[in-house]
Amino acid sequence: MKANKLTRRKFITSTSATAAATMLSAPLFARSRAGVGSELALNGGKAVRTADWLSWPVWNQEAEAPMMSLLRSGNWYRGDGNKCRGFEHEYAELIGAKRVIATASGTTALITALHTLGVDAGDEVIVSPFTFIATYNVVFNQKALPVFADTDPETFTINPHKIEEKINERTTAILPVHICGLPADMNRILAIGEKHSLPVIEDACQAWLAEYDGKMCGTLGDLGCFSFQNSKHIPSGEGGAISGNNDALMDRCFAYHNCGRPHGSSMKGMGENPIRGSNKRMTEVQAGLLLSQMVRVRSDADRRLENALYLDSKLKEIPGIVPYKLSDGATRSAYHLYPFRYKKEHFDGLPRHKFLAALSAEGIPCGEGYGQQYFDGLIEEAISSRGYTRLYTKERLNRYREELHNLPDNDQLTLEAVWFFQNMLLAERKDMDDIINAVQKIYENRGKLL
Ligand SMILES: Cc1ncc(COP(=O)(O)O)c(C=O)c1O
Repeated sequence: MKANKLTRRKFITSTSATAAATMLSAPLFARSRAGVGSELALNGGKAVRTADWLSWPVWNQEAEAPMMSLLRSGNWYRGDGNKCRGFEHEYAELIGAKRVIATASGTTALITALHTLGVDAGDEVIVSPFTFIATYNVVFNQKALPVFADTDPETFTINPHKIEEKINERTTAILPVHICGLPADMNRILAIGEKHSLPVIEDACQAWLAEYDGKMCGTLGDLGCFSFQNSKHIPSGEGGAISGNNDALMDRCFAYHNCGRPHGSSMKGMGENPIRGSNKRMTEVQAGLLLSQMVRVRSDADRRLENALYLDSKLKEIPGIVPYKLSDGATRSAYHLYPFRYKKEHFDGLPRHKFLAALSAEGIPCGEGYGQQYFDGLIEEAISSRGYTRLYTKERLNRYREELHNLPDNDQLTLEAVWFFQNMLLAERKDMDDIINAVQKIYENRGKLL
């Protein structure tokens, strides 16, 4: 494994004498073009920023010849080419996993992992509630129940202290999510998994090159799952991968994702179709795109880290802005999103949606994070279905409904979260100043928005 050496800690120590010290001693308004005192853009004033941000994804011109040759060859199916295999090899090396299987998407990677680790109809899987909806959906896809353990609002990830109380005789797996690229508290989660003999599947769909304890996210649990959908750091329109170190388990994952055909030495002599399967294969075209994107992954990750640490140092100085915290043992976030909590009480009660509108008007794209998705209807639709009412007792389903009302920290986070997007972190230091200046400008003018 070629380890990426620029961890958060190393960045801080290696640069603290110079850059970090400069950062902290520099005035908050590094370039106060449209700073304190000037009219908010939302109220007709000049925006802090009018320049565009980097458009994503970024096409690599050098990939044109190999992509054209792939298209002309007609070898678009993985059985006829070597792109999927090549990508699996490169990605395994990048993240330090023994093996990687390319899949059609992150969702299909998760479904394959859950199925292979034995998550079955009537089971329960412990999940983080603060996540993209796919993490819930894949559990329902197995006809199992996603049981939410509350979120640690400081780290945005699952609170490991809330997991054990959710374990019962039907629990079959723990599915932590490295949301925004922030590693979940894996030491504690793995210890709980071991104590209760539960496999741990990492949803690393937003966490390429994130590190925990010096190891890459996706290589710590029994299986890791990644997404390469178009917004992701290694984009191919759609795409995904499963990582793992256990050959027998990975052989079974491969077989499942390839219509149940036996795969590898651990399945030798098992006959034509010894296990159930599905088609969750990646195409050669997806893998060709991914290979073309691999050239920039490490340098992009370092750039995002540097800019994120700069934002940390400045944003935390603004009252009411609380940047994410890394969980115990986490050494590096991937910064798919740069999240912080907006405490409106420090902005004289200015509602979050107005803060977001003001930021956007200043030329700073931003989002409000995940909402209380468990009340959106999807869960009720699933658990009131014929299948679920056969698989679970009425008492269990009613208790499950009640438990959705007992996620106080997640509920609070859904009201306070704000995030910036990964492409913004690929800009220059001066562009980070635009972000900081815009937030500070809104803070200084908060009374004018009420
Ligand atoms: C946390 C998380 N899990 C799962 C997925 C599903 O990945 P895909 O969209 O590739 O199916 C995503 C995609 O955004 C994600 O962010």
